[in-house]
Amino acid sequence: MAAAETAVCETDGCSNPARLQCPKCLQLGIPGSFFCTQDCFKGSWGSHKKLHKVANIKSPESGAPPTQSAQNYNPWPGYRFTGKIRPFPLSAKREVPDHIPRPDYADHAEGVPSSELALKGSTQIRVLSDEEIEGMRVACRLGREVLDAAAAAITVGVTTDEIDRVVHEASVDRECYPSPLNYYTFPKSCCTSVNEVICHGIPDLRPLQDGDIVNVDVTVCHRGFHGDLNETIFVGKVDDDSKKLVRVTHECLTKAIDAVKPGVRYREVGNIIQKHAQANGFSVVKTYCGHGINQLFHTAPSVPHYAKNKAIGVMKPGHTFTIEPMISAGTWRDDTWPDNWTAVTVDGKRSAQFEQTLLVTDTGCDILTRRRDRDGQPYFMDG
Ligand code: MF3
Ligand code: CO
Ligand code: CO
Repeated sequence: MAAAETAVCETDGCSNPARLQCPKCLQLGIPGSFFCTQDCFKGSWGSHKKLHKVANIKSPESGAPPTQSAQNYNPWPGYRFTGKIRPFPLSAKREVPDHIPRPDYADHAEGVPSSELALKGSTQIRVLSDEEIEGMRVACRLGREVLDAAAAAITVGVTTDEIDRVVHEASVDRECYPSPLNYYTFPKSCCTSVNEVICHGIPDLRPLQDGDIVNVDVTVCHRGFHGDLNETIFVGKVDDDSKKLVRVTHECLTKAIDAVKPGVRYREVGNIIQKHAQANGFSVVKTYCGHGINQLFHTAPSVPHYAKNKAIGVMKPGHTFTIEPMISAGTWRDDTWPDNWTAVTVDGKRSAQFEQTLLVTDTGCDILTRRRDRDGQPYFMDG
């Protein structure tokens, strides 16, 4: 991170470096509003909140999206963007009705998943019971339906926030909690990652543009089980280089899945993916990995997508995990926006990703999140 370009806390008399931003200001499109700690933020609240009123007067009282404020929206004046994508304001928080079972982090102030943390550092991979496997099948099937709903909503001019609304409502309609919501305080119900955004993009009021590639990453939690999948989708007419990037990324995932069966080491996945990416002139992101998934969103094993990794564990029937390669057109190096989520390529070139949740069977694997129509083909290939 560029340490020299950190903002200074806005509390009177405090000059500490500050990376926390007032969520209300972010929502309203008010630039700045940095604080060093929650305590400084709370201490300044009395005077700070007046700013929100001023902004409210300038924007219409209706529910119209704040497109005007979005024009000049630059929440991080000191941050040097790596490419052309910029943050836009966020819509208000979406709620999940009380009758839907919620993961532990949903109601934690810092979004901490205590159940995951209890096993942190453990490399033990759970073998699921038949009943648990059925729970995973159902959750993953519903997750796929939610991604299908999101994909149907994607076209030029639609905001990533609108995709989030569709994901949120399709999840709730299916008695699912959208797993990203409040996970370590992630503010939305899915991740939307456009062009040079590698992963963990936060849905906002940016309208999709002709030629964009957008990854939609959906995870749902149904009756205690998580199902996780993503696809990169074309917006309008996409250039040939981007088409090749998306196609090769999907091939990387398919080749890796084809190798999954009992006895195979988890570290082998990365060798297969990097070989194919590299043969096509592309690079493999190293910071983010596939993961075990069950009643926990992220758990053992960790599944790196790059070659010569030291991943621990051997595949066994009853293991459930994701493979989700992120492949970049230029460098594999990533940077993170000051929102502490959005991962971007350091050179601003595009990155693509596909993800499935898999169950290791006696002879190979089941793709639990596979598309059920069009013979399972990805959306970018739909005519
Ligand atoms: N769905 C992502 C994955 O594949 C995780 C998103 S976590 C979030 O592992 F908090 F960013 F939503
Ligand atoms: Co995942
Ligand atoms: Co995911």
